[in-house]
Amino acid sequence: MKVWIIMTLVLLCEEFQNGLSQQGNPRKEGGRRQKNRSGKRKESESAGKGQSILTQVLDKGRFLRLVDSLTLSSGKDLELRCKGSRIGWAYPTYLDTFKDSRLSIRQQDKYSQLILTSPVAADTGEFSCWALLCDGDECTRDTDRTSSAYIYFTDKDELFVPSTTHFDIIYLRPDKPSVIPCRVTSPLAKVTLHREVPPGEVSVDGTQISYNPRKGFIIQQPSLEDTGIFYCKAVSRSTPQMSVKYQLLYVEVPSGPPSVTIEASSTTVGGGDNINVTCTVLGDPDVDVDFVWTFPGQDQRPVSITEAWRLINRGSGHTTRISQSVIAVEDIETIDFGDYICTAKNIHGETSVAAQVASY
Ligand SMILES: *[C@@H]1O[C@H](CO)[C@@H](O)[C@H](O)[C@H]1NC(C)=O
Ligand SMILES: *[C@@H]1O[C@H](CO)[C@@H](O)[C@H](O)[C@H]1NC(C)=O
Repeated sequence: MKVWIIMTLVLLCEEFQNGLSQQGNPRKEGGRRQKNRSGKRKESESAGKGQSILTQVLDKGRFLRLVDSLTLSSGKDLELRCKGSRIGWAYPTYLDTFKDSRLSIRQQDKYSQLILTSPVAADTGEFSCWALLCDGDECTRDTDRTSSAYIYFTDKDELFVPSTTHFDIIYLRPDKPSVIPCRVTSPLAKVTLHREVPPGEVSVDGTQISYNPRKGFIIQQPSLEDTGIFYCKAVSRSTPQMSVKYQLLYVEVPSGPPSVTIEASSTTVGGGDNINVTCTVLGDPDVDVDFVWTFPGQDQRPVSITEAWRLINRGSGHTTRISQSVIAVEDIETIDFGDYICTAKNIHGETSVAAQVASY
C-alpha cells in the first residue's frame, strides 16, 4: 500500500515537470494543495485574468473549478458549466466526428451547461469554453474569459485513448517535431516506446524523445534513423497494454510553395486535334495542393479537368506525394492556341508554370 502511494507521488511529480497538474480530485486531502496551486498558476499566467469560468458539477450541488486537468472514471456522466450568458465550447474532435448524441450543450441565463453521458476512454481530451462578445449577430471570443481543462476518462481496459484506425502512418520531417500519438487515459500510466524490427525498447531521454500523456511521444528532430514500425506500451496497475502500430516514414521535402512541373502531350497541334496538359506537384505527403488553370479558351469552350494524387515510395523510407491536374482539350480550334498556365497552391504559397500550345 505504502509503495503504491510513493509510486503515485513519484508519477505525479513527473507530471508536474511536464507542466501538467493534477487538479480536481474532489477528496478533502487534495483541497489545500489545490488552492495553493491555483494561486501559483494565477501568478504565472497573469493574462489569465483571475478565476477559471469552467466548473464541474459534483453531486449534491457542489462545484469544482477546473484549472488544468481532471481525471474521471469512464461511464459516469459529466456535467460542466461555464459562466456567462453567451458561451462557446470546444471538446475532443472525436465527439464531433461521430455527431455524438451523448453530448448536449444548453445555454441557461447565467451559464452554459455541457453534459456528456456515459463518457468513454475515447472522449479523453481538452474541453474548453469562452465567453462570446457579440455585436448583433457577430460574435468573437473573449480571450480574457477563456478556460480549459484536459479531462482523462480512465478505463482499466483502455489505457490508450482508442484510435479509429489500427495502423497509423506518421510522416517525419527534418524541420519539425513529430508526434507518435499514443495518448493515455490515465496520467499515471507508465508508457514506453518500442520498435518492431529489430525489436526493442526505444530509450527516451526527455529531450530528443519525450513523452507527454496528452500528446504521445514527441521526437524533436526526426531523422532517417527514426523510420520503422513502432508501438507504445502502457502499464498501470493491471497487465501491460499495447497501442496500435505506427509506421514512421521520412519525408525529405522542404516545406514551401509547391514545386511544379507542366507538360503538354504535344506542343504543336493542328485544328481538330486533342491535347492534354498535365501539371504535377511533388511534395509533402499530408499537404494538400489546389490547382487553378488559366488558358486561352477560358469561359468560351468546355474542357475537362481531372485531379488526383497518390503516394510514391522513393525507397529507403522516403515518401513523396504526387499530385496532378490534367486539362484535356478536344477538337482544338484557333482560340485554344496560347499559354496554359497552372497555378498550384498549398498552405505555404503558390507557384505558377506555363506550357505553350502552338499551331504547326
Ligand atoms: C503554498 O504552500 C507553501 C508550502 O506549503 C506555503 O509556503 C505557501 O505560503 C502556500 N501558498 C499559498 C498561496 O497558499
Ligand atoms: C489524354 O488523357 C486521356 C486520359 O488519360 C487519354 O485517354 C488520352 O488519350 C489523352 N490524350 C492525348 C492527346 O494524349
